[in-house]
Amino acid sequence: MTFRPTSAGLSSLEGKYMSAQIFKPQANGIFKIVPLIIALVAAGVVLALVGIDESPYITEVGVAKNQPVPFSHKHHVGELKIDCRYCHATVEKVAYAGYPATETCMSCHSQVWTNSPLLEPVRDSYVTGEPIAWNKIYELPDFVYFNHSIHVNKGVGCSTCHGRVDEMHLLAKNQPLYMGWCLDCHRNPEQYVRPQDQVFNMEWQPTANQAAEGARLVAEYHIRKEQLTNCYICHR
Ligand code: HEC
Ligand code: HEC
Ligand code: HEC
Ligand code: HEC
Ligand code: HEC
Repeated sequence: MTFRPTSAGLSSLEGKYMSAQIFKPQANGIFKIVPLIIALVAAGVVLALVGIDESPYITEVGVAKNQPVPFSHKHHVGELKIDCRYCHATVEKVAYAGYPATETCMSCHSQVWTNSPLLEPVRDSYVTGEPIAWNKIYELPDFVYFNHSIHVNKGVGCSTCHGRVDEMHLLAKNQPLYMGWCLDCHRNPEQYVRPQDQVFNMEWQPTANQAAEGARLVAEYHIRKEQLTNCYICHR
């Protein structure tokens, strides 16, 4: 027997499915606010992503990294007053500050704390000749060019970029390396530059006279302010 819809059959179907009121009369109102809800949710997601992007979880600001040896800048720099260049010897001469050779540690630790279990990896490295694998804390993407020596030789101090290293037990990043951060100083170097002999001084602070003093140093060091925001300076 073939199925022939009768008006009675249709209306019963209608009764069963249609008038089950999938679309209630209020539906019009709901459809009007759906785009609004979607927009709000999307905005929320965007805000959350931006929030994550700036959170310490992603930027790692203030979060100390585990290291093969719990080396303390606070002990060695803050208390023992060892100069940065004793360990980061190339910082004034080439692009990289670099890490100290194990021999540098052993110049003292063959005499002090010689049996400390904390220094086990240092002694191992000394014996095997395998360098200690420090976890890098500050790392720019490959497409950005950076050079320590040019900054250090033009009066930009370590603490301006790395913070109060002398107060950190385990070292942590003091700021993310956003392009905007580099550009802020490249636009206004006079706000940051200091006298050459203060570059390694962790305690140096700008004085009330920084504007005038900074402008004087920018001229004295021949800082080419107009060129420093050109893209090719950092992306070459
Ligand atoms: C006795 C040796 C020693 C001295 C002195 C020293 N450092 Fe270090 N520095 C290290 C070692 C080892 C590391 C790697 C372990 C770590 O990150 O703590 C390091 C790491 C760093 C890092 C993080 C580098 C990275 O991205 O991984 C910065 C920044 C730094 N030192 C700055 C300084 C400054 C500024 C001074 C002087 C005020 C200084 N250091 C003095 C040994 C030293
Ligand atoms: C100029 C001498 C000197 C050099 C160079 C030196 N240290 Fe030390 N280190 C000391 C002294 C002194 C202490 C004891 C500090 C204290 O207890 O106040 C010490 C303590 C330590 C400790 C254990 C105590 C702490 O600070 O928590 C570790 C770990 C350590 N050093 C690692 C290193 C490493 C790694 C290097 C090389 C990158 C290094 N040291 C280079 C003198 C030195
Ligand atoms: C203008 C900002 C700036 C100044 C000033 C600066 N640094 Fe750095 N430092 C950086 C950046 C950016 C990196 C990461 C470089 C990279 O990944 O190529 C870095 C990395 C490092 C590292 C890791 C090893 C390396 O060479 O990449 C050490 C150690 C370090 N800096 C020590 C120092 C010391 C010591 C001084 C002062 C003499 C100093 N820095 C001054 C910005 C700076
Ligand atoms: C606090 C100030 C300051 C900060 C922060 C800073 N710079 Fe600089 N930068 C300078 C000064 C000053 C010079 C020297 C300019 C000159 O000699 O004309 C310079 C020079 C340079 C040069 C060399 C230009 C050339 O070709 O001679 C490069 C590359 C550079 N900066 C990259 C960076 C990058 C990348 C960052 C961020 C990760 C950064 N800088 C952050 C102040 C700063
Ligand atoms: C003083 C150094 C400096 C200069 C000048 C500079 N940049 Fe950058 N740029 C950076 C750094 C540092 C990063 C990496 C930022 C990060 O990892 O978050 C970057 C990242 C970028 C990126 C990748 C996307 C992003 O934002 O992370 C682009 C695209 C870019 N730069 C374009 C430019 C252009 C175009 C110019 C010229 C108008 C320029 N940059 C000038 C330092 C610089």
